[in-house]
Amino acid sequence: MKKKVYFGTNLKMYKGNGETVNYLAELSRLANQIESPFDVELFVIPSYTSLKDAVNVIEQDNKPLVIRIGAQNMNSHDNGQFTGDISPLMLKELGVKLVMIGHSERRHVFRETDSEENQKVLSALKHGFTTLLCIGETLEQKNYGISDEVLRTQLKIGLHNVEKQQLSHLWIAYEPVWAIGVNGIPASSQYANEKHQVIKQCLFELFGEDSSKIPTLYGGSVNPDNANDLILQPNIDGLFTGRSAWQADNFVRLISQALRAKQEAV
Ligand code: PGA
Repeated sequence: MKKKVYFGTNLKMYKGNGETVNYLAELSRLANQIESPFDVELFVIPSYTSLKDAVNVIEQDNKPLVIRIGAQNMNSHDNGQFTGDISPLMLKELGVKLVMIGHSERRHVFRETDSEENQKVLSALKHGFTTLLCIGETLEQKNYGISDEVLRTQLKIGLHNVEKQQLSHLWIAYEPVWAIGVNGIPASSQYANEKHQVIKQCLFELFGEDSSKIPTLYGGSVNPDNANDLILQPNIDGLFTGRSAWQADNFVRLISQALRAKQEAV
């Protein structure tokens, strides 16, 4: 089986519907020109208000490399008194295939807890979504020397009661909070690889051999200068990119060069 390499972006609260549709059309056109011996999984996570048109534009596109469209969050309940929230059933109705849970901004700006992320993970998996659980330590936690403990806690609570047969739908993104966004300091590829190893070890403790089905992606200031080194690390299966991916041509350039570096290293 060809090795799968994952590339994705979260558009956060930046692109409106029109911009998202244009971005996706260009991304799909350019990404479909990439030639690589690897199996590439490409995903984009726009705002809720763009999801319907995003799914439609990709469905009508009919290209071999299909961009998977994801939601940035969801409520764990199917329906109820949750004004302003979006339910899994609503996302399913739109044809959304992926849901991101526990992005650092959800945890730190919106104060979501590990047990809330766990409820969402269980609900997303129950509804058959590819579920991207994001984890990562803050700078303070890193300085206390408790990064590994934090990652293990986020995994053990976030994945509590997940069953082995659901693992083919589970992805993990490791995004150190201190590395994310305009003020972020990119993690070195060595540091990122070490933490991915801690994550893979913890997943093995939780799920045994079946844990090898779970891809682990790195995110946090991924850019054209560090993408190649990061993707060459043995424990990193993909790159989850913010700012450097928000122009389709730049993102495709980053993906192409990373794939080329990986191919040359084989
Ligand atoms: P960034 O965002 O690449 O702009 O640091 C990463 C993220 O928030 O997922």
